[in-house]
Amino acid sequence: MLILGIETSCDDTSVAIYDTKQGLIINKVVHQKNVHANYGGIVPELASEYHLKYIQSTLKKILKKSYILISDISGVAYTAGPGLERSLAIGASFACALAYSLSIPSVGIHHLEGHLLTTMLENKKPNFPFLGLIISGAHTQLILANSLGTYKILGDCLDDALGEAFDKTANLLGINYPGGKKLSILAKYGNSQRFFFPRPMIKQSGVNFSFSGLKTYVKNVICSYSKIDHQTRCDVARAFEDAILDTIEIKCRRALNFTQCKNLVIAGGVSANHAIRKRLNQVMRSRGGKLFFSKQSLCTDNAAMIAYVGSIRLKKNASRKIFIRPRWCLEDLSKP
Ligand code: KG4
Ligand code: ZN
Repeated sequence: MLILGIETSCDDTSVAIYDTKQGLIINKVVHQKNVHANYGGIVPELASEYHLKYIQSTLKKILKKSYILISDISGVAYTAGPGLERSLAIGASFACALAYSLSIPSVGIHHLEGHLLTTMLENKKPNFPFLGLIISGAHTQLILANSLGTYKILGDCLDDALGEAFDKTANLLGINYPGGKKLSILAKYGNSQRFFFPRPMIKQSGVNFSFSGLKTYVKNVICSYSKIDHQTRCDVARAFEDAILDTIEIKCRRALNFTQCKNLVIAGGVSANHAIRKRLNQVMRSRGGKLFFSKQSLCTDNAAMIAYVGSIRLKKNASRKIFIRPRWCLEDLSKP
């Protein structure tokens, strides 16, 4: 069975085809990074305009490239939320209209369930129950995944999400949006002994996160220089990343102790970060557990994860009813 996935929750237009027998066939992402770079963040009106512009041509391209006919598709899965309302509406309308015209079912998928289950597309798959750490541009959550569709949020972010903190700090260092990846490249060349930044919320019990204070701290350090040279930028980036690594390690260890999970899954755009992968790999090895993550291209937003979750959910919840939920809690999936 071939499932078409459509993801338009934020600023990337993505279309993918997942085969329930062979796995992922094709995934294409059209980035809008250049469109939003000048604004320092995503402009929702522009994001939806570009989804509208690219969605049909992206579908045509993947069908052509994979030699699949649209009539071979058995179901359409789309991101129903959480995300930007206008962007979600474009993907949902396109997906449902297509499914209706082909007389096949459609299903709305939770974006974060997509991220959480992306590692199921890899050869090395985690077994339930597992601890999930979603670190993206919009979310930072520690989740106990008991079984498919049954998720408990153990910790959440009280302000800026981790990706947002990376992007805003990168912006302070003169890097265009989204600067998370470039900041981590600068950090590689930084001296870890020059600055020490606070590790936010490690003294409070629990596993919630807060990164806006750290970002303000970095801003004050940068503002104390009249001119910031390249090495100082690298040293600041390194101190920022080190503070993130320690904070994440402490929170993950707490959540692992609490849940007794042996498997840790990291997902979302920031899980592409090599230093985070390395640190959490060491943590899991020291506990006799395993760390799971996706290939780089599937860490950031993509339709492959939506098509995969769709292939499971279409069996249960197939309908032609269109819906979007810009604010949608992952725990609500287990509610009837
Ligand atoms: O999951 P995603 O594509 O979007 C949301 O659903 O929010 O994540 C995008 C985020 C951006 O903030 C980007 O800067 C960050 O992921 N990111 C990284 C890296 N690669 C992407 N942050 C740190 N290190 C990276 N290597
Ligand atoms: Zn995402």
